[in-house]
Amino acid sequence: MVDLTDLQAWQALSLHAQENRHIHMSDLFSHDPQRYPRYTIEACGLLLDYSKNRITDETLTHLFALARERDLEKWRERMFAGEHINLTEDRAVLHTALRRQVDDPAWVDGEDVMPAVSRVLEQMRHFTDAVRLGEWTGCTGKQITDVVNIGIGGSDLGPRLATEALIPFASKNLRCHFVSNIDPSHLLETLAPLSPETTLFIVASKTFTTQETITNAKLARDWLIRQVADTNAVAKHFVALSTNAEAVSQFGILPENMFEFWDWVGGRYSLWSAIGLPIALSIGMDRFEEMLAGGRCMDEHFRTAPMESNMPVIMAMLGVWYNAFFDAHSHAVMPYDQYLRILPAYLQQLDMESNGKSVCRDGTPVDGPTGPIIWGQAGTNGQHAFYQLIHQGTRLIPTDFIMPAQGQHDLDRQHDLLISNCLAQTEALAFGREDSAILSELEQQGLDADAIAALLPHKRFAGNRPSNTIMMDELNPFSLGALIALYEHKVFVQGIIWDINSFDQWGVELGKKLALVIQDELQQGKTTGAHDSSTNGLFNEYLKRRGK
Ligand code: F6P
Repeated sequence: MVDLTDLQAWQALSLHAQENRHIHMSDLFSHDPQRYPRYTIEACGLLLDYSKNRITDETLTHLFALARERDLEKWRERMFAGEHINLTEDRAVLHTALRRQVDDPAWVDGEDVMPAVSRVLEQMRHFTDAVRLGEWTGCTGKQITDVVNIGIGGSDLGPRLATEALIPFASKNLRCHFVSNIDPSHLLETLAPLSPETTLFIVASKTFTTQETITNAKLARDWLIRQVADTNAVAKHFVALSTNAEAVSQFGILPENMFEFWDWVGGRYSLWSAIGLPIALSIGMDRFEEMLAGGRCMDEHFRTAPMESNMPVIMAMLGVWYNAFFDAHSHAVMPYDQYLRILPAYLQQLDMESNGKSVCRDGTPVDGPTGPIIWGQAGTNGQHAFYQLIHQGTRLIPTDFIMPAQGQHDLDRQHDLLISNCLAQTEALAFGREDSAILSELEQQGLDADAIAALLPHKRFAGNRPSNTIMMDELNPFSLGALIALYEHKVFVQGIIWDINSFDQWGVELGKKLALVIQDELQQGKTTGAHDSSTNGLFNEYLKRRGK
């Protein structure tokens, strides 16, 4: 594969970036009254306004040329066709099949996977109906009132995001809780107010070997059995979501209580699979399928829309632009909707575990920066914490603002306040404040010339800070599905441009292996001394402070 920076489109883009370095968005807007309609697109009920970016038509032409030179269209087809594009794990990448119409075949290694997808969806429907209607009861015949999902990473963040985002659509009779951390405080604090007789545990783990999840699941199983004094209770209180039937059965969960998925579903792309069971329990299977439909709609858009009007492609290429030519190390996501407060954390895994790579597909070092640091918080909280740095800091931080037009409560005025803050932030970031306006304000306050000169640099807002705004009618299962799929495809496109495998995660392995060594040493109460002086020192200090 040709190095990124050697590509013709890259070189053209690089030159264009140098020549247009000092363009200001204020000028771009004042020269083009049509800039908003020109740089706004709609798909699947989402409107993307990308006009507040440091781009011109020429920038976009170069960016799309780059995507074409990187064979994006071919790679996109290879993904949808179920080819093993996850090379290092020799796997297909076909989470899109999970949201396909069940009569629309999807092939992996010569087999149509849709009958299996459909079977698990049916199993989920049957189970969620039974729990929600009170037909599935706990071991003492009582209705289930609380669901505790035990999982981590993709087996936690996706279902947690969607369950929380869709609370307004949730059953009032069933509460969902999520336990991920191996710190026992997480599970114990969650269980403290719950009754074992009415609690259902979902053990969610693709591999069913993840230490945190299995440890917490065992602790939960002990809690249940101890409290109800019935070893058979597990059958009525534990279900598993996994690809590993053998490990599930060894744990003691009945095969009929396991919901299967497959190795072609990456962990961070798994909320559409059986891993979505807590979502379906909370909002019902019909609503869950609406979420799948939102994802499917975005798949169709991504697959068929020309690059120039393809939402995930546009967002991805803007990210590539800032990453490469503006030294943008991070990318912020600010949902102006409290129900979306988990979104930044969810996108951290989606993006950073996918594109936090430093070698190309063929193992050679990448040619330039890859995935940015993803961060953010629900608005308006961040405004009173870290927006200062986005407005006046030395780093350029491209930011996505997400806003539903309708709030979920009958409080229009307060929703207007929320949205006015969102719009104001995008405006302030893009246009800043003219020195003349600051000067006249200070003069009106009666300050003398020296005081004004001293204050002016501190009050200056240079603007020219890029943002996208994504608007939807309301946050509902369909729009949430479309939004998540939008980001999935954005991450895919960036991985293609950087020529990395977005679907493995070897970087998380080393820490896990070293932890196993240290666990053994802690059990024996002494280190082998084979670590560095810092790790040895901390190990010994830990034992000393524990009185060992
Ligand atoms: O350690 C990282 C990781 O493998 C993620 O990719 C994954 O989502 C998470 O752990 C949980 O894995 P599992 O679902 O197999 O328990």
